[in-house]
Amino acid sequence: MKQHVVCRTEEIPKGQLKAFRVGGEKIVVYHLKDGFYATQAHCTHVFAPLARGKIVDGCRVQCPFHHARFDIRTGEVIDWANFPPGIQLLNALRGEKALKTYKVSVRDGEVRVSV
Ligand code: FES
Repeated sequence: MKQHVVCRTEEIPKGQLKAFRVGGEKIVVYHLKDGFYATQAHCTHVFAPLARGKIVDGCRVQCPFHHARFDIRTGEVIDWANFPPGIQLLNALRGEKALKTYKVSVRDGEVRVSV
């Protein structure tokens, strides 16, 4: 695991998220009230880009495709895919799976992620 500088803190305003490619992996960095966090870039359901999703409840990311919600700090599934109606058929094949998370630190105005 290596620490990579991904951006400056001002590049991601509070309440927003942004995708990066770091050390051969695609990640999304989130700026929450209490700091910066990072997860894998694609939803574990059927791989939607989470950077096109939105932050809800202050600390969760909602997938743009079928509205699965994950805790940004832990990667844990809060709600699995539930949109549109009928998606549950697909869920029989694509069971709940947490997002991978990455350690983030901030130093000298730079956001660093361990990948
Ligand atoms: S791809 Fe994210 S909920 Fe289906």
